[in-house]
Parts: sequence; C-alpha cells; structure tokens
Amino acid sequence: MADEIFQLIRKEEKRQAETLMLIPSENYASRAVRRALGSVLTNKYSEGYPGKRYYQGTSIIDEVEQLAIDRAKKLFGAPHANVQPLSGSPANLAILAAICKVGEPILSQHLFMGGHLSMGQQASVSSQYYRAHYYGLTKKGEIDWKQLEAQAKKIRPKIIFCGGTAFTKIFDFARFGRIADQAGAYFVADISHIGGLVAGGAHPTPKNEAHIMMTTTHKTLRGPRGAIIMVTKKGLKKDPQLADKIDRAVFPGLQGGAHNNNIAALAVALKEAGTKSFKKYVAQVVKNSQILAEELIKGGFVLIGSGSQNHLIWLDLNNRKIDGWTAAWALEAAGIIVNRQTIPFDRRSSYYPSGLRLGTPAVTSQGMGIKEMVIIAQKIKKVIARAKKIAPRDIGGLNKQKDQRARKKFKQEVWADPELITIKKEVKVFCQRFPLP
Ligand SMILES: Cc1ncc(COP(=O)(O)O)c(C=O)c1O
Repeated sequence: MADEIFQLIRKEEKRQAETLMLIPSENYASRAVRRALGSVLTNKYSEGYPGKRYYQGTSIIDEVEQLAIDRAKKLFGAPHANVQPLSGSPANLAILAAICKVGEPILSQHLFMGGHLSMGQQASVSSQYYRAHYYGLTKKGEIDWKQLEAQAKKIRPKIIFCGGTAFTKIFDFARFGRIADQAGAYFVADISHIGGLVAGGAHPTPKNEAHIMMTTTHKTLRGPRGAIIMVTKKGLKKDPQLADKIDRAVFPGLQGGAHNNNIAALAVALKEAGTKSFKKYVAQVVKNSQILAEELIKGGFVLIGSGSQNHLIWLDLNNRKIDGWTAAWALEAAGIIVNRQTIPFDRRSSYYPSGLRLGTPAVTSQGMGIKEMVIIAQKIKKVIARAKKIAPRDIGGLNKQKDQRARKKFKQEVWADPELITIKKEVKVFCQRFPLP
C-alpha cells in the first residue's frame, strides 16, 4: 500500500468522509459493489454477449452478465437490457447509432436548460453526426411543451429524448410518448438521474410510454460507473429488430471487450435496488430533497421549479448577487460540495453560470434525514452570505482581465477565510456522525 496512488485513495476517502457530498449525480456505492469492482473479473476479455463470445474461458463471465441482464429486466420491467455500455454518454451514442442514420434530426432538452451533452449538444460528437434540435424549459422550470410540440411537428425528429442533468419535476412520460408517437419518432427516456428513484418507486416509470430507457448506474441507482440500455415492449412493437440493433451498436459498433468487473458490480447494485430498504432509501432521498428545498426557500433562495419533486435542487443565485462559480468555491472551502449550473435563460456562461445544482442521494445514503437537511440549509445560507462579503468586486464585471485576476485571487484565498474554516470544522464533526458505507 506504499504506492502514491494508494496514498491518494486514502486522502480521497478522508475527503469524502469529512465533506457533505451534495452533487446530485454522485452517491456512495456499497462495500459489496466496490468489492465486485475490485475483483479478478477485470482480468478477463469477453467480446460479445452471453453464449456468443469471441474469446475462450468465458463460461463464468456469461453467468455474471446474464445475472446482471436478468436483474435489470426484472427491476425496470423491460423485455431487453444491455448492461455493457461503459457510461451514460457512450450509451446515448449507441442509441443514436442504432436508430439514426448520420445527418438525421433529433430533439432534446437544451444544455443551458438542464439538458445533457450526450443528447446532441454542440460540444458533443452527437451533434456532428446527427442534426440536433432542442426544446427548453419555461421560467417555472417546466418542460416548454408548446416549443417541444412545435419542434416535433416541424422537424419530424427520428428520436425525441427526455431527460437531463438538471430538472426538479416529475417527468410527464405519457405526454412525451404522445408527442413522439404523433411525430413518428422514437421516444428515448434517459432516466440517468432518476434511475434509482424509478427502480424504487419514488418516480413513475417510462416503461409503457418510451421505446427505449437508458440509465446510468452510478447516480441514484448507487452502483458502479456504467449504463444500461433497455428496450421496452412498445419499442419492440415499433421495431422487432430494435434489441438487436442496440446490441450491435454497443458491440461491435462502439465498444470492444465488456468491463466484466463493472458488470458484476452492477449485478450486485441491481439486487440491492430490488430490496425494501432501497425503496425506503429512495423515498427518503425525495423527502430530504423537498425539505432542503423548503428550507432554502425560507432562507431567501430562489429555486427553479419552486421546490423539488425528486432528488435535485436547482438554485438561481441572481437575487444573492453572486454567481455559481464563486458560491461553489466558497462552499467547497466550507466542506460543502455542490455543482455550478446554468439556469433557464441564463445570461452568463456554463463555466461561470448563475446557478447551482444540489442533490440528496449521497447524504441520504449516509443516513441523514430531515433534521440534517435543516442544518445543511442553514450552513449553505451562511456560506453564500459570507462568499458575497469576501468575493472581490471585479468578479463578474465587464473587464475580463480584472474578472480573471479576481477569480484567481478568490480561489486561492477563500481557503484562509476564518468564517469558512469554522464552518468546515463544523461540517467535519457533523459528517463523523454519518460514516460512509
Ligand atoms: C441525463 C444524463 N444522461 C447522460 C449522462 C452521461 O453519463 P456519463 O457521465 O456516465 O457519461 C448524464 C451524466 O450526468 C446525465 O445526467
């Protein structure tokens, strides 16, 4: 254990144990999941699928992958599951490759309105291969249905994606399904963020409305990093070859050998997600998110969507006169880890946006409940008030050079602020009561 890497792992373990992890896409995987991840299964090549491999010595790997497939199908109620995608972005690319020819139109939630890169955003290859169009959100944080319907009629997309990286409401999958059907499009429900909530019954499932469901496995589902692509009954009805097309797009289309240690860890996570205690966990995730949202509103914060119906809280910091970058660094200096995030109709950039994204999956895995959410909201309020006081005036100003100099200075000096240091110490003591799994 003398290698530098193991020292760094120890340091990261300590950082995770002593800070509040409020990034909505992160979670703490169980010891059993991590054990499977670190197992000898990483030694094996197994291109292909169970029963159809291009390598010898795969009989046990076949059993592992088949178990993961069966558990995914059962948990999400889908007739077909592919558990090999390395992560959410390659899974979305596989879906695109399976369904669309290069240059065909697709429709998804805009990045600045909480959408994800991998569904046709400009910086992603998905927009170079496919003709991407977007819909947005209303100021209230609802899907802009009028815009979505008009776009679907006009451009006749091959795929309508639902799902993003910031959205605080329950998705109306039936409405998405109707719009896609009318446009003759495939409805792909990217439930990456809410995969665990869907599995545990804390969010409705799109299994009857979507043709394809995709979820990452490391967020609310609390598994290893990876993704599952599932074809629904409706999907097989629209195209009986759809499952084959998905499988071929994943391997050999985009990937080589399956990551068998990840797939084994996923099988473990899927079993955990089928338990009563997981159901209780995801219900608590949502309760905690609602309470944290209410407390933040009481503390004077503006929330996109005026609250939270899932695991995610979306703060608009404009009324605090501070940007997301400055707030996020001050919070980190105080031991509170969040994400900066653009807000609908943001006038700033995605690197220096007007908002923040918080979530309750990880702290709920630690066993925190309503009382703790009240305390966390108070700490966030204190830190952001302090950040506003100590942030140099030039941050966010029109003079770009002065802005960059001020940000550099703030990022270096924020760690020495006595008030933030005191909060960081309090956070550390607070976290010690809730050890990591
Ligand atoms: C909705 C959605 N889809 C896809 C992804 C991509 O997942 P990954 O980061 O595993 O590539 C994310 C990641 O945040 C996401 O939120």
